[in-house]
Amino acid sequence: MSNRSSATGLVARSVPRLEGRVRAPGDKSVSHRALMIGALALGETTVRGLLEGEDVLRTAAALRALGAELHHDGERGLWRIRGFGVGGGREPADVLDLGNSGTSTRLLAGILASHPFTSIMTGDASLRGRPMKRVTDPLGRMGARFAGREGGRLPLAIIGTDEMLPIEYRLPVASAQVKSAILLAGLNTPGETTVIEPEATRDHTERLLRHFGAEVHVAPAEGGGKRSTVVGWPELKARDIVVPGDPSSAAFAVVAAAIRPGSDVTIENVGINPLRAGLYRTLSEMGADIMFENRREVGGEPVADLHVRGGCLRGIEVPAERAPTMIDEYPILAIAAACAEGTTHMTGLAELRSKESDRLASVAAGLQANGVRHEMGADSLAVHGTGAAPAGGGLVATHLDHRIAMSFLVLGLATREPVAVDDGSPIDTSFPGFAALMNQLGARIGPLAGTVTAVPQSGSAAGAA
Ligand code: S3P
Repeated sequence: MSNRSSATGLVARSVPRLEGRVRAPGDKSVSHRALMIGALALGETTVRGLLEGEDVLRTAAALRALGAELHHDGERGLWRIRGFGVGGGREPADVLDLGNSGTSTRLLAGILASHPFTSIMTGDASLRGRPMKRVTDPLGRMGARFAGREGGRLPLAIIGTDEMLPIEYRLPVASAQVKSAILLAGLNTPGETTVIEPEATRDHTERLLRHFGAEVHVAPAEGGGKRSTVVGWPELKARDIVVPGDPSSAAFAVVAAAIRPGSDVTIENVGINPLRAGLYRTLSEMGADIMFENRREVGGEPVADLHVRGGCLRGIEVPAERAPTMIDEYPILAIAAACAEGTTHMTGLAELRSKESDRLASVAAGLQANGVRHEMGADSLAVHGTGAAPAGGGLVATHLDHRIAMSFLVLGLATREPVAVDDGSPIDTSFPGFAALMNQLGARIGPLAGTVTAVPQSGSAAGAA
């Protein structure tokens, strides 16, 4: 894993067009779940296409600390897991360091809460700042106890129990991580544990739990949203899994191609689960030419090869209800909007303030630094594109946020002056090899020479690249 104390700046320079065929890296959300559910199963699970990013490796290390055997099998993405079974984990001997990974933290909280021992989780400065009350509240109602910093923030001690009570819980905010934490805790709980979401979020946990033999019922909730119930104490049996490519990672190459007229790029093996594919719908409405070729199923998830041809985009209104299906894609959508003609209005973005950074503020500061007109509200962003190349020339503060780094490097492929990010190292959490893959398509992303100074989160100042 990279050493986060040494920030490595990156810079992207304008290119006329992108061309070629690349394969999307494994899906981060599915990779975490494959390892966790494999660890909760009995027998040997084989995972192919696992994303070997830092976040997923943190999950692997935590599961090892709980007693699962996980082996990387030489070939990239091929892993074997010998699980400990539902409720069969052992007390970790040390603090679990989950690095930058919110998904590891929140989903593992569900597993740890339903084991009769105490475990302690911590992470990097970004993760230690993220709200955890959203998981400790429902898991507390089930019987676990917690001792953390204000707001339940990490470091967090989880005093688990194997006498959990089943609950029916209505999520105050749509969150797949919180839903998954409760469903995973529900495995080592008698009876039926139910989560009601105000709006449907990604359903990889439900799909994978069923694949491993758990009983999971999903139905529309009264008054909208979705109701998911897991029946406790299943015997999960080892299975083989193939992880599809990550639509959130593919998004960077898709937008890069879409904003460079004349580009012709295909990204193979992209997951197009409708609960993840909101960006692709939005880009199509903006006029992007994206074809879904070779549609098929991989590991129980719909997948396609995305063929993108560059052209001109126009600004649109993005419906707030779409947010759960593209929650991680707003930073890269803002880049598409900056290169489009007209205004793109995005609303329903309050959750962006609780991601790896305050993504709304990080995006606004990055746009400001690169001469893109915009207005940020409490939960909204309007980006005013002119259809002409944005100025660029800014230095963007990454704030330990991989998606901020990648999004602004994509902007730099289309600006008059290069765009720099102060720290590219977080990219390895979700997309190791990002710069090489983009450069294979004709991008010009490389190291930023010289000393790099971060711009404060609240500020809108621009440093020179
Ligand atoms: C994820 C859910 C989303 C997303 C995150 C991954 C998951 O978070 O932002 O990157 O794998 O369940 P929330 O559940 O907090 O919206």
